[in-house]
Amino acid sequence: MVKKKTQSAFFCQSCGTQSPKWLGKCPQCNEWNTFIEEIISKESDVKGGFKTSKINKPTLISEIDYSNEDRIITNDKELNRVLGGGIVPGSLILLGGDPGIGKSTLLLQFALSSKNNKILYVSGEESEGQIKMRAERINKNSEHCYILTETSTQNVFQQIEQLQPDILVIDSIQTLHTAHIDSSPGSVSQIRECTAELIKYAKETGTTVFLIGHINKDGAIAGPKILEHMVDTVLQFEGDRNYVYRILRTIKNRFGSASELGVYEMNQEGLREVNNPSEILISERDEATSGVGIAATIEGARPILVEIQSLVSSAVYGNPQRSATGFDTKRMNMLLAVLEKRCGFKLGAKDVFLNITGGIKIADTAIDLAVVCSILSSEQDVALDTLTCFAGEIGLSGEIRAVNRIESRITEAEKLGYQQIIISKYNKFSPKGFTIKIVQCGKIEEVFKLLF
Ligand code: TYD
Ligand code: MG
Repeated sequence: MVKKKTQSAFFCQSCGTQSPKWLGKCPQCNEWNTFIEEIISKESDVKGGFKTSKINKPTLISEIDYSNEDRIITNDKELNRVLGGGIVPGSLILLGGDPGIGKSTLLLQFALSSKNNKILYVSGEESEGQIKMRAERINKNSEHCYILTETSTQNVFQQIEQLQPDILVIDSIQTLHTAHIDSSPGSVSQIRECTAELIKYAKETGTTVFLIGHINKDGAIAGPKILEHMVDTVLQFEGDRNYVYRILRTIKNRFGSASELGVYEMNQEGLREVNNPSEILISERDEATSGVGIAATIEGARPILVEIQSLVSSAVYGNPQRSATGFDTKRMNMLLAVLEKRCGFKLGAKDVFLNITGGIKIADTAIDLAVVCSILSSEQDVALDTLTCFAGEIGLSGEIRAVNRIESRITEAEKLGYQQIIISKYNKFSPKGFTIKIVQCGKIEEVFKLLF
């Protein structure tokens, strides 16, 4: 009997579930219409790939050696921070982000800045010449960085065997294909298989592997969700392409906090680390203008001061317009309703526009107080003091509620030279010699009396 060599199966594009038949609804993740046929070959005689020889034995947990000094500290402080204090050898790091956001630039820059580790940068998207051009542009050169343009995992592993790099960068996982499976690069089964081979390689040799992943239109990493489960760390590179600032965010990290944040600025010579984000998010002003409020917020684990601008004007048409950039419009409407109902401000017939400068989005509710004060400032056309900032959440009855990690917010405000911070009177904190004036208020009216 002749064995059938190629076989096809249906894969859910959302979670990677395999089925012999087409299904309308995935039984695993309940998504509709996600099954696509892919060719797989079961009996494969392809040689190559990563060969396993080691057999692991059970070890007493108390006898396992472990030391934190093993982490590779890179020259990029923001990257170290996001990874939880450097790279853990043998880990798999997935970097996702919109096209053109700077994923390749970030990792090439990292590869070129390495002083003692041998790095292999595998690109399936650009030619050697193009990569060199980019390297010249970011003005770095390195004796430790090797470039390989290749899309077959078998060939990559062959080169790795000779080169023995300390760190491997794959740009991108969607262009890679393994000969063990017949389906096209970028398909669910290819991504899963290639990642599995790379994991095996990383864990056994202790080599760190960076994978660049494309994201789909919903912002999730293209390919099955399973990819995110397989790797140790998932990073997301985001930002508005019209602005120069980029945020590197941890979504998952087996070796550190998952709420870390790194900030970069994209300029002519590649990405520049921004070690003090508050400075760039607050525009330089010579004189105070109405409608501007400064909020002490926490993004991830990092305190940042952001500037909120609002414009309140009489509505020209029947329906007043409300629009917010970088802030939830629904929450802004709620805050406007609180001002109207609880504090007696007539904002119902006014257009309200709100903008958080720098093109970043803030979800922290502690910026409520700054939002409200900036709206009132524009309404009254009275500028707020430029050296005052705010941290407080607004409740539905107009009360100012306590926010978390108030000490870090105060410290950051103090560090940046602010002279006064207005917070909730319910916030408890240890007064450990702050020089900044801390004003505690319980209601919006109290803040209003204080400011205007
Ligand atoms: P890239 O790293 O190719 O994005 P990705 O790999 O995420 O698709 O980034 C390309 C963008 O970055 C491109 O729009 C140009 C810009 N850029 C600069 O502004 N300055 C630079 O020095 C470099 C290298 C790129
Ligand atoms: Mg790229």
